[in-house]
Amino acid sequence: MDRIYLCLAHMSGKEQQYIQEAFDTNWVVPLGPNVNAFEADLAAFANQREDAEPLQKEVVALSAGTAAIHLGLIMLGVEKGDEVICQSFTFAASANPVVYQGATPVFVDSEQDTYNMDPQLLEEAIKDRIAKTGKKPKAIIPVYLYGMPARIDDIMEVARRYEIPVLEDAAEGFGSKYKGQVCGTFGDYGVMSFNGNKMITTSGGGALICPDVETKKRVMFYATQAREAFPYYQHEKIGYNYRMSNICAGIGRGQMTVVDEHVRHHQWVHEQYERRFAEIEGVTVHGAPEGCMKPNYWLSTIRFEDGKHTIDGELLPLIEKLSEANIETRPLWKPMHLQPVYKDAPAYTSGVSERLFTCGLCLPSGPYVGDPEIEYIVKKIIENI
Ligand SMILES: Cc1ncc(COP(=O)(O)O)c(C=O)c1O
Repeated sequence: MDRIYLCLAHMSGKEQQYIQEAFDTNWVVPLGPNVNAFEADLAAFANQREDAEPLQKEVVALSAGTAAIHLGLIMLGVEKGDEVICQSFTFAASANPVVYQGATPVFVDSEQDTYNMDPQLLEEAIKDRIAKTGKKPKAIIPVYLYGMPARIDDIMEVARRYEIPVLEDAAEGFGSKYKGQVCGTFGDYGVMSFNGNKMITTSGGGALICPDVETKKRVMFYATQAREAFPYYQHEKIGYNYRMSNICAGIGRGQMTVVDEHVRHHQWVHEQYERRFAEIEGVTVHGAPEGCMKPNYWLSTIRFEDGKHTIDGELLPLIEKLSEANIETRPLWKPMHLQPVYKDAPAYTSGVSERLFTCGLCLPSGPYVGDPEIEYIVKKIIENI
């Protein structure tokens, strides 16, 4: 069996045609027809709703999901001395841009059902930050971990009550839906990632979902070095070189022709794991807790409930054995409040993310994982636990 990876890029075959067009017309720059068309595709994808009129959001294609988080924070006015609430159970890229802005992340733990931000703990954190610092956190960053929708209605309700804007990190949740609406479109801004390991890829890239055309223009301004409308180079703000290249956007356009298939495939892989692990004691496949949540299942994850396969116990040796069997797996994210780099950041914890980090495992879930691979992976896990 060839090595089975967590999630590899998978091309539709149309990517090279768009790239060729860019070469033929010499649009080998970070703007152009592919960028415009990719943004239109992304907006149409993000705006679709089941049983409701489409939304009217706009999308800006950028060099990375991390750049999208950074620009989202800038758009929300986050600056030195501010606090931003961020889900603790996530990849470091959710939180690092808060620090780029000279602000402090305040970490909030997850709830067990979705692995995402706990709305009750969010409210406790807001109240406590106001009591301790005399001012409200400037923004809230919930995350859609492994593609699982967060309890976004409850999070938005708390956010609205305290009038704090929301920047959704949907880097892993491209195509996930909550109550028929695409994750990343509930808050003020939403983040997409097209890194090589994501649901679709542009080799590297990201995008920011914006509320309207005006904010889109503003995001583009910051993403292109904040160049003012003068005949010479005039700068009144600090800008960034964050636009997506027209070549990468060509890959993105090709990927958008197969995005629905990609999402369906990841969901199918998850169903197979659920079915095959159903009888195995001590192993739980993480599934959507409610029918209104439609995860993209970017990565399927399992939890070991046996007390033996923990990060300080048998989990890492198991990962090693699976690797020797040519299967890539990896522990769940290590929460940010446990990361040395964030040891001084305020954190509101319940023990949920620490427990999940201790006993969770990500399984191969991408386009190259078919029936024989799933059978082999499950067999090897059962053999080794
Ligand atoms: C939760 C989360 N946020 C943000 C990012 C950053 O995206 P990018 O790699 O496109 O910068 C990633 C993935 O890489 C992620 O998993």
